[in-house]
Amino acid sequence: MTIVEACESKTNTTPDFPMGWFSVERSHGLAVGEVKPVKAFDRELVLYRTRSGKVALQDAYCPHLGAHLGHEGRVVGETVRCPFHGWQFNADDGKCSNIPYCDEIPERARVRTWHTEEKNGEVYVWFHPENTAPQWPLPDLPELGDPAWTEPRYTEHLVPAHVQDICENSCDPVHFAFVHSQGEIPDSKVSIDPDGRTMHLHSEMTNNDFPSHLHATTYSPGFAMVRNSYGPGAEMIMYNSPQAIDSNNTLMRWTLIVRREIEDAAGDDVMKGIIDGLSDDYPIWANKVHRRRPVFCKEDKPLVTFRKWVRQFYVTSQEQREIA
Ligand code: FES
Ligand SMILES: [Fe+2]
Repeated sequence: MTIVEACESKTNTTPDFPMGWFSVERSHGLAVGEVKPVKAFDRELVLYRTRSGKVALQDAYCPHLGAHLGHEGRVVGETVRCPFHGWQFNADDGKCSNIPYCDEIPERARVRTWHTEEKNGEVYVWFHPENTAPQWPLPDLPELGDPAWTEPRYTEHLVPAHVQDICENSCDPVHFAFVHSQGEIPDSKVSIDPDGRTMHLHSEMTNNDFPSHLHATTYSPGFAMVRNSYGPGAEMIMYNSPQAIDSNNTLMRWTLIVRREIEDAAGDDVMKGIIDGLSDDYPIWANKVHRRRPVFCKEDKPLVTFRKWVRQFYVTSQEQREIA
């Protein structure tokens, strides 16, 4: 019997979007009354801040004639007003609360509202394909705002890869040697907390100009805190909150803080280091496919652990179950 292998394009599709917390904006990037279009999870969304200061993220297309609420939409009190015929939608439940030329509001006049929370200076959305309530809280970052640490510095990068592939990068010590000119594969260990959800990578970065112990804590795909310790009191933290735009594009939002003790030595160089590091990865990400079933070798243990761990974040929506 001849076995015909399925063609590449059929076996290498990118996964859906994992559930979890994703950043959609910095808090300081959204003023009271401001309305912005946002693209996340391959959907068009509208983000705005009401007069009372509350943030709302909703499906962007107006149920009336389909105008995009994020383009020319206006905040009116605690609602967003469609630019086309003036229908208003509540920030809290998405229901239409006013049609300026009609007393009767149709039952189905409503936009889907996503669960948002502001923390650590960012606006986060809880993503689940069925828009369920959050299943775990946002992590605390006690060092942000602590006087022993510097004020946060920000950098953002649009990378042409699925959010899972970017996350996988931080569980891939071998690529440090080949892509990031480390010379040697750093000694690394991956572990998972008893909750099954929080993953840690510890790496000894001995081949850097400044050797360090790297500890990456990943809370859900892409959402990570990377702590580099150079010695007592000499630490820096990079915090990445991604925005999964579509299957092939992710906006990384990095926040950097360093201990005051190394402020003068670390700040700019470290920021430049992050940017250089990302540009090393860039040509790989821009041209790779996502292997759903990679061929692993015996020493690929961290990657195997990662792939097992990441499965829990994918849920099949009711809609997909019905189609299947
Ligand atoms: S399209 Fe939005 S009010 Fe008509
Ligand atoms: Fe990398």
